[in-house]
Amino acid sequence: MAETTITRDRRGSAEVETLDRAGHPRLRRIADVLRSRSRRPTMFVIDDEENIAQAIRCGIELESLYVTESTIGEGFPSLAHLGDVPVYIVTDAAARALFGKERRTRFFALAHAPKPPVLRDLSGAEGDVIVLDGVQLVGNIGAITRTACALGAAGVVLIGSGLLSTLDRRLVRASRGLVFATPVVIASHAQCEAFLKQEGIAVVTLSADATEPLSRVRTLPGRVAIVLGSERAGVSAEFDTVTTKRYAIPMTEDAESLNVSVAAAIALYEHRSR
Ligand SMILES: C[S@@+](CC[C@H](N)C(=O)[O-])C[C@H]1O[C@@H](n2cnc3c(N)ncnc32)[C@H](O)[C@@H]1O
Repeated sequence: MAETTITRDRRGSAEVETLDRAGHPRLRRIADVLRSRSRRPTMFVIDDEENIAQAIRCGIELESLYVTESTIGEGFPSLAHLGDVPVYIVTDAAARALFGKERRTRFFALAHAPKPPVLRDLSGAEGDVIVLDGVQLVGNIGAITRTACALGAAGVVLIGSGLLSTLDRRLVRASRGLVFATPVVIASHAQCEAFLKQEGIAVVTLSADATEPLSRVRTLPGRVAIVLGSERAGVSAEFDTVTTKRYAIPMTEDAESLNVSVAAAIALYEHRSR
């Protein structure tokens, strides 16, 4: 089997090399990136055209772009015509070998990692800060990141999320690429608490069993840190000593709690509407 084939894409405007074996150095490199457990990765993978487009808008530099062979019939993604970024076709067999049981996408990019955001990046901003205390479902973290960006939050702090890096492929997808637009910071509880104290940001926690309704958050001037708890345990007791207010979003008797991303969206909106 030939190692590489040169094909013309459907617009006839580019010559595209086909990578047809998992052992190809380019695909081996991507496999290394996908397997990496680094806290400071230098490269990362972005899936899907919409997320890649968002990354580009946020200044992420792409190294290369990949289209899977069986989807070429659907047309070449428009982003495949990015001036200097080389494009490759990956055969389905090679893509299967590369991604294994992980999600495979029609179009993906290898990108240079930006500097990871730090708490200081939330200093100058005007919006509220969302703190996720032990929230581990990446789908929820992604949805909250997307909402935080849409509603003008300063950023999101992750405590005990289990994520090593916010360039995690699943988070990029779940946030629709908005993890590049809003600082998402991995921090310890102590670092987060020290930062909020130093910035003079009031801490409010959300709990379904709190006695004060969330609507009162409108009375708090300035920006606040809204702390939400884990899917299983809620907000940890470590926040008790620094919390100004505990709020609940009133619910019918039938419901025990809301999904954490829904609660985060309601709280951000409520405080913004003051
Ligand atoms: C699925 S809930 C966690 C349920 C958990 N068993 C508990 O006791 O908190 C995840 C998080 O969403 C927030 N949340 C969910 N429903 C809420 C409500 N009605 N009012 C305020 N916060 C809520 C809280 O921060 C909660 O820790």
